[in-house]
Amino acid sequence: MLNELLKRPVIPVIVIEDARDAEPLMEALLKGGMDVIEITCRTAAAAEAIARIKKTFPEVLLGAGTVVTPEQARMCVDAGVAFGLAPGLNPATVEYFKKHDTLFVPGIATPSEIEQGLSLGCKLLKFFPAGALGGLDMLKNLSAPYASLGVKFCPTGGVNLGNMNDYLSLPTVSAIGGSWLATKQQIADKDWGSITRQVQEALAKASELKA
Ligand code: 3PG
Repeated sequence: MLNELLKRPVIPVIVIEDARDAEPLMEALLKGGMDVIEITCRTAAAAEAIARIKKTFPEVLLGAGTVVTPEQARMCVDAGVAFGLAPGLNPATVEYFKKHDTLFVPGIATPSEIEQGLSLGCKLLKFFPAGALGGLDMLKNLSAPYASLGVKFCPTGGVNLGNMNDYLSLPTVSAIGGSWLATKQQIADKDWGSITRQVQEALAKASELKA
């Protein structure tokens, strides 16, 4: 699963208030070429939204974000998500996902947390909140000592169309995540066209780096 996730440079971070929006939202993302999604456990609708996407779109790489309690970890594993993420590094959550053979991407913000993540076997770490922590310059300096260990980072928090390729240009960055790709308001407004367009723009932008 790690290899599958490493192939996706852009991950939409979703906050969903009404689980009935899950299917049209996923359709809008797929229409834009996006086959990965992170549903955050920040709303009461998250569990049902995850279940709906799992059922209707088995081909999608379905992730759960903001997994910060044991109950959320259990819900995500039971729902059969492909991967989980969190803003921080909680060893109990990392172990829980490991025990259930599910990829987990903990959040880090310091060298000690990177080392803790590595010692727990995590090869992909979320750098959060990227912008507020110092953005590109911070991540460049923070990740340099660990580059030879093959660890990869996924910066999120303050990432947008304008700065995403700065992050993706770093050899230690495999993907970026952001909520700008499908905002809470756009989901509430059922503005699926804008979401498809934003996803297309972001994927086109990411592919500029390969050209
Ligand atoms: C996350 O959970 O990864 C972040 O909240 C996303 O940050 P953003 O809203 O600045 O994109």
